[in-house]
Amino acid sequence: MAARIHLVRAVMFVAAAALMASFSAAAGEGGAAATAQQELRRGFSVSHDESYSQFQPVLADPTGTFALGFLRVNTTMLDLAVLHLPSAFPLWRAIPDRPAPWSSSASLTFNDGGLALIDRAANNKVLWSSTAVASSASAGDRVLLLNTSNLQIQTTTSAAAGVVWQSFDYPSDTIVQGQNFTSAAALYTSDRRFAMRLGSNYFALYIEPPPSSGVAAATSAAAMYLKHTALEAKAQIVAGGGPIYARVEPDGFLAMYQKEGPPADVLSFDTFNRGVRAFRRMTLEPDGNLRAYFWDGTRWALDYTAITEPCELPTTCGAYAVCAQPTGRCECLANATDGGSGCAAPAAVVSSLCGATTGGLYGAVRRQGVEPVNKELMGFERAASAADCEARCERNCSCWGAVYSNGTGYCYLMDYPAQLLVEGDERKMGYFKVRSMEEEAAARGGSGSRRAKAALLAVGVAAVVAAAAFGAYRVWERRRRNAMDARRQLGAVDDEGLSPGPYKNLGSFSSVELTNSFRR
Ligand SMILES: *[C@@H]1O[C@H](CO)[C@@H](O)[C@H](O)[C@H]1NC(C)=O
Ligand SMILES: *[C@@H]1O[C@H](CO)[C@@H](O)[C@H](O)[C@H]1NC(C)=O
Ligand SMILES: *[C@@H]1O[C@H](CO)[C@@H](O)[C@H](O)[C@H]1NC(C)=O
Ligand SMILES: *[C@@H]1O[C@H](CO)[C@@H](O)[C@H](O)[C@H]1NC(C)=O
Ligand SMILES: *[C@@H]1O[C@H](CO)[C@@H](O)[C@H](O)[C@H]1NC(C)=O
Ligand SMILES: *[C@@H]1O[C@H](CO)[C@@H](O)[C@H](O)[C@H]1NC(C)=O
Repeated sequence: MAARIHLVRAVMFVAAAALMASFSAAAGEGGAAATAQQELRRGFSVSHDESYSQFQPVLADPTGTFALGFLRVNTTMLDLAVLHLPSAFPLWRAIPDRPAPWSSSASLTFNDGGLALIDRAANNKVLWSSTAVASSASAGDRVLLLNTSNLQIQTTTSAAAGVVWQSFDYPSDTIVQGQNFTSAAALYTSDRRFAMRLGSNYFALYIEPPPSSGVAAATSAAAMYLKHTALEAKAQIVAGGGPIYARVEPDGFLAMYQKEGPPADVLSFDTFNRGVRAFRRMTLEPDGNLRAYFWDGTRWALDYTAITEPCELPTTCGAYAVCAQPTGRCECLANATDGGSGCAAPAAVVSSLCGATTGGLYGAVRRQGVEPVNKELMGFERAASAADCEARCERNCSCWGAVYSNGTGYCYLMDYPAQLLVEGDERKMGYFKVRSMEEEAAARGGSGSRRAKAALLAVGVAAVVAAAAFGAYRVWERRRRNAMDARRQLGAVDDEGLSPGPYKNLGSFSSVELTNSFRR
């Protein structure tokens, strides 16, 4: 084990060194984090420079831990991001509606229009801007990156001093400690399949409906797969007392508040009240799970996992499958797969359901002994029989499935494609509409080769990590040289006396981060 880790470290170190060589050639002495400034004033503009292979820093925080810059995502695309530099983890991303290719002639500008990412080649088309998302029309006077990783546009005129816009109000998939997560915001996985939102007295995780293609008549709603309701032990949530908000606290918990003071809920992490003072984040990850980490100086240490039962995680089996507890083994509802990991119906069994002539192609599947694992989070109706329950779903285009419990007489209607199903007792009667493979592929977008895309994403992440390792190596190297110089002046250079600084475990952080990035 230890030997393997050493090997991985060695490999990463060599990779970083190789990258260094190629970067030095490409980017010159300017290098990774050297060009970032600490404040942007009105009139500022910087062009994307392709000689940075993964991340071009533009604005740094006072501690040098975070930077705003152009980030390469999905191998080929460009985004604006705030990176945690030691790990190269993007804490915030702008995520333009139509992302630009990495090779585009993009610019980041700050002027009357606020902070904006524009495409100079396409007639200065605005790809993303802070004013497009903020309600405030004021542009502000300067842009700062705070030592919390919060990117702020501020006004410095005394009349209206304050924050015009801040990235903390527009999270992507992550919140960091001290960041208020409000009901005005949502966390989305980068593919927007999953979301986290606040309700009146809870937070919940949802499977998001796919963007409507306009082809299928059937619609679907967001499916809740986790709900955490505030315990209200220390503070009550008062109706009409305003929306709640959540925040990761330095002591190692996610708190829900209606107002400052004692929290209405405390969701404790593993390091809760253990005096661990480290930078913390909570991320809705691509697998649909919500996890919290702290930065231990070399890697992101896992501190909390919302879902620990594999069958309660929507990505374990995906749509149209039944999950066996507790192993998480998956079995397709209909005896079919698309040859990959999906469980759509084979073309042979499809027919047009729900009475709509414009509807897509679906097959009806009946299964005894299955039930939704999230049934406590679903509404139900009472029905006299399984046939009665099924009939309520059959001709309804927004109904994707019905599960009748012959014990209780409850009829659960699913308004999203059947998923999160587990084995239940024999009195549970399930009826499901299973989309045809063609429809499923269309809904997934084109050829639906999600695996290939995931692989591309992984490659992108690996490259970013390598670039970060390179950046960290440069910092480390510089510090080492400075320390050597200092000691040489004092006439006290010894052989093992390298001053490692915070990046002494360069190899291990990169390998661990890689492992984290690849875990799905
Ligand atoms: C961050 O900045 C605030 C003031 O803006 C300061 O009080 C705090 O100590 C700083 N924290 C770190 C980790 O530098
Ligand atoms: C979070 O919300 C509280 C209460 O509204 C406020 O006092 C605090 O400044 C907010 N923090 C940030 C970082 O916006
Ligand atoms: C990256 O690829 C995934 C999967 O295709 C996609 O959902 C996501 O929007 C892409 N991100 C960007 C910034 O293009
Ligand atoms: C799956 O196939 C088996 C054997 O071919 C058959 O007995 C079973 O009914 C099929 N199940 C479904 C849901 O089509
Ligand atoms: C449902 O329950 C009724 C009454 O207990 C019973 O007669 C019937 O056989 C059950 N149906 C199934 C499919 O288990
Ligand atoms: C159709 O199904 C949806 C989802 O189950 C339900 O909310 C709606 O009330 C149903 N519509 C009718 C007319 O029954």
